[in-house]
Amino acid sequence: MKPLPPFPSDFLWGAATSAYQIEGSPLADGAGPSIWQRFAHTPKMMVGGDTGDVACDHYRRYKDDVALMRALGLQSYRFSISWSRVLPEGRGRVNEKGLDFYSRLVDELLGNGIEPNATLFHWDLPAALDDRGGWLNPDIADWFADYASVMYRKLDGRVKMWATLNEPWVVTDGGYLHGALAPGHRNFYEAPIASHHLMRSHGRAVQAYRAEGKHRIGLVVNIEPKYPASQSPEDLAATKRAEAYMNRQYLEPAIHGRYPPEMQEIFGDAWPDWPQEDYDLIRQPIDFLGLNYYTRNVVKHDPQAWPLWGSPVKQTQATYTETGWEVFPQGLTDTLVWMKQHYGDLPIYITENGSAFYDPPKAHDGVIDDPLRVDYLKKHLNAVRAAIGQGVDVRGYYGWSLLDNLEWSLGFSKRFGMVHVNFETLERTPKASAKLYSRIIASNGGVL
Ligand code: NOJ
Repeated sequence: MKPLPPFPSDFLWGAATSAYQIEGSPLADGAGPSIWQRFAHTPKMMVGGDTGDVACDHYRRYKDDVALMRALGLQSYRFSISWSRVLPEGRGRVNEKGLDFYSRLVDELLGNGIEPNATLFHWDLPAALDDRGGWLNPDIADWFADYASVMYRKLDGRVKMWATLNEPWVVTDGGYLHGALAPGHRNFYEAPIASHHLMRSHGRAVQAYRAEGKHRIGLVVNIEPKYPASQSPEDLAATKRAEAYMNRQYLEPAIHGRYPPEMQEIFGDAWPDWPQEDYDLIRQPIDFLGLNYYTRNVVKHDPQAWPLWGSPVKQTQATYTETGWEVFPQGLTDTLVWMKQHYGDLPIYITENGSAFYDPPKAHDGVIDDPLRVDYLKKHLNAVRAAIGQGVDVRGYYGWSLLDNLEWSLGFSKRFGMVHVNFETLERTPKASAKLYSRIIASNGGVL
């Protein structure tokens, strides 16, 4: 095997979070409710009845959290902006206090030498917009661009990296097709419409950025490479459908201005015909791609598995995380190489990568040993090096997550943090993985 190359000297090391998952105080200072605020307060939607009412209390403790980032040596921090803090009704009136929170956060980061990386939409749609159809309403592209412009005007002088959407696939698959995530719809006909308006909104927000912003903007997608369980034509076809649905449905229009042909096969008469002008809008030049990578799937044909007719095969020899995801570092290398092959030489940032493993609710003597997460981190960073060795332009890595947080409808039951949070006292304790990450950053990967 070829020796792994070092990380480039300007490789960016960071950690990521999102607003609803960590901030708490979702209605403070004049904020409007988001669909996650509503969903979490709907009986039976959340494991353990958990909500984001307090979460990590980051809204009030952000200065301490930035100090923690600095102590770990983070060079960049990826966070998301809660749309309904800034625009309580989703459009129109700006809530200065909500806007000010992000302005103060950005100042605090810069004051500590940490580059802010802001995501405009990480799932917490203003409830007032959901009342108007949310992602099903074509007008949302303008609403989103208007909100984005408010943020660019306020922060672009200080924020040099922006992303429009986080994981549009999860928004539609979880929120509109299977109903496990807000807004909780289960509707085959709605899913492709929501996807399309998400992507039009991405396009409009990039256009607005070219008018108002001076730095870089990209799109964050989740990719789970799909491998066939066998070489049978049925398994190969099921694998291709799974790959089109999850991995190409958003990248293909964003980069090439078209949907994968398999989409029509999967959705049948629920797949609409869209006008060419929509594709032209969606395909805006972007400055980078953000990749969220966690796991892979081995796919076999399954006549029961509507509508993809394929289902994952459990790997008996593999380690699985607490969210039931196989640990498969090679998949990260494969995905990065695949992105370069299919979507060209855009710079790539790994905007999320991490694992949920069991950690105790309380730290004992200030120590949390998380050997499985340590192992996951090392192996995935080496997988990034392997991709760099194959010529992929990977510019940075953000661990998911800085803190244990609200894992959406799974509540606080799944811990992804490099820093442990005691959800009774809200005390933060860096886990062994955080300490290792700190040494990795300080040595630019030299200790791996
Ligand atoms: C991706 C999402 O962006 C993030 O919000 C979530 O917590 C992690 N994956 C883990 O599931």
